[in-house]
Amino acid sequence: MLIGKSGKIPSSEITPEGMYLNRRQFIGKSAAVVAGASMGSGIGGSIEPENSQKDWSKVRSELDEELTPFDDVTSYNNFYEFGTGKSDPVRNAHTLRPRPWTIEVGGLCDNPGTYGLEDFIKPGNIEDRVYRMRCVEAWSMVIPWQGFSLKDVIDQAKPSGSARFVEFRTLHDLEQMPGQRYGVLRWPYVEGLRLDEAKHPLTMLITGVYGKTLPNQNGAPIRLIVPWKYGFKGIKSIVSMRFLEEMPMNTWKRSASHEYGFYANVNPDVPHPRWSQARERRIGEFRRRRTLMFNGYADEVASLYSGMDLRTHY
Ligand code: MTE
Repeated sequence: MLIGKSGKIPSSEITPEGMYLNRRQFIGKSAAVVAGASMGSGIGGSIEPENSQKDWSKVRSELDEELTPFDDVTSYNNFYEFGTGKSDPVRNAHTLRPRPWTIEVGGLCDNPGTYGLEDFIKPGNIEDRVYRMRCVEAWSMVIPWQGFSLKDVIDQAKPSGSARFVEFRTLHDLEQMPGQRYGVLRWPYVEGLRLDEAKHPLTMLITGVYGKTLPNQNGAPIRLIVPWKYGFKGIKSIVSMRFLEEMPMNTWKRSASHEYGFYANVNPDVPHPRWSQARERRIGEFRRRRTLMFNGYADEVASLYSGMDLRTHY
């Protein structure tokens, strides 16, 4: 069990004690919410994680798993905007300019706005989370992220009663993201969550990894992580968030709806049409291990789907 009713992660999830960065209220009521806020000012080191001196070799996941080495986390990536090979993003993502950056919050909500990154992220609000990431391609990693709960942003935006989903979009810029010149996917990359999934305490917006500012290839400056879902739900380099009544069409479902669904919950019992999802290879290991229902987070999230047929809603 990882998360109590309060949404706090027990210290067993992240060792040792005292490593949490202060969790502070997210965007204060006074946060600037103005079009183009802070454009051009950059953010300097203001949202840098403060714990880069941490001895990561002692940190393990709550299932007592070792962390995937930093070099693997940052050089074996999926980011089609920079090429379809796993080593393309680290080679090519230098063209992305993650500062300055703005994020538009809109759709069905009382408090829409365009935020400069530094207004969107409050440094003291950032906390550590060690999450397993299970890719649909049957490999996995254990990654120490730094970020904050998506719920904080949603509460600030005040979605209206009719809003049932949140849609996210990646930057669409052929100069910064040369892979968008090719039609391998429909651009920009789009993902979505049901509102209750988005507000779940495990769902995070991520700004750092291993105590360092998020590298471009991992989705700088801000990306989503939903640890009980396949990795493709973790949309990178987010520029917009919209509240919708209807389920948004996410990129991989649009690309091949018989292979990828909207929910994309990790489920070892539902094979991908071309391969089994029962086992996975942890990057850095040879052996294959059993894939866990909801990627091991069933205690926390299974109730979100009670009554739903997760074979139909894959
Ligand atoms: N986001 C965008 N914009 N473009 C992508 O190609 N790939 C997804 C997801 N987010 C992707 C993306 C997939 S398939 C996975 S498995 C994860 O990012 C990989 O995250 P990582 O490279 O940090 O491990």
